[in-house]
Amino acid sequence: MERLDKILANTGRWSRKEVRELVRAGRVTVNGVPARSPEEKWDPAARFEVDGAAISGERLVYLMLHKPAGLVSATDDPRQPTVLELLPDYLRRVGLFPAGRLDKDTEGLLLLTNDGALAHRLLAPRRHVDKTYFVRVDGQLDGSDTAAFAAGMTLGDGLVCMPAGLEVLEQADTAIVTLREGKYHQIKRMLACRGKPVRYLKRLTMGPLTLDPSLERGEWRPLTEVELAAVRATAGI
Ligand code: URA
Repeated sequence: MERLDKILANTGRWSRKEVRELVRAGRVTVNGVPARSPEEKWDPAARFEVDGAAISGERLVYLMLHKPAGLVSATDDPRQPTVLELLPDYLRRVGLFPAGRLDKDTEGLLLLTNDGALAHRLLAPRRHVDKTYFVRVDGQLDGSDTAAFAAGMTLGDGLVCMPAGLEVLEQADTAIVTLREGKYHQIKRMLACRGKPVRYLKRLTMGPLTLDPSLERGEWRPLTEVELAAVRATAGI
């Protein structure tokens, strides 16, 4: 049994304060009867309605986050702040986790969801979902780096990398890198192997998702219906 305000806030649609207001305004029913108090305890499997619309206790949430540097891509960490700390309380209780990781000092597109089935399929190595990154290095990139990435590199530590894209931009210390896999520190390790250590890294796209340019670092928004449909299709759902 759980408090009504907790059950409804866990859907990610309202804060507990908003739930209290909805209950007070008589807009919430449980099993067809108007709810009396936000503190009253109910079985989460009961039938909840707000303004006559059924509310599932298991709402799936999908957020696009512009990850800033300095936060770890994890749900909790004993020593370091996590990306979940960017979210309001009511969204921190719905079981969100990052679908795919970025290093602590990497910025850019991160998908947060509580849809374990979708994340699992999207991240499955055999699905080869392309991810693109903007990168700045120490040194100048050239065609030999592009060729090495395209050929598939084997790093000094034995890591075998699939062929990857590296398009040198006008400023030759910058490039767009495209990966089909996501091994630990992969771009940093590939470019360190080329003698051009990464200075700055930002993920721009992941499969059909592109980082929304209107999101500042640390900002997030729900995926649009179109984005969600595209992500589902990529995941084969
Ligand atoms: N490659 C890296 O080295 N770091 C990231 O965060 C992502 C890809």
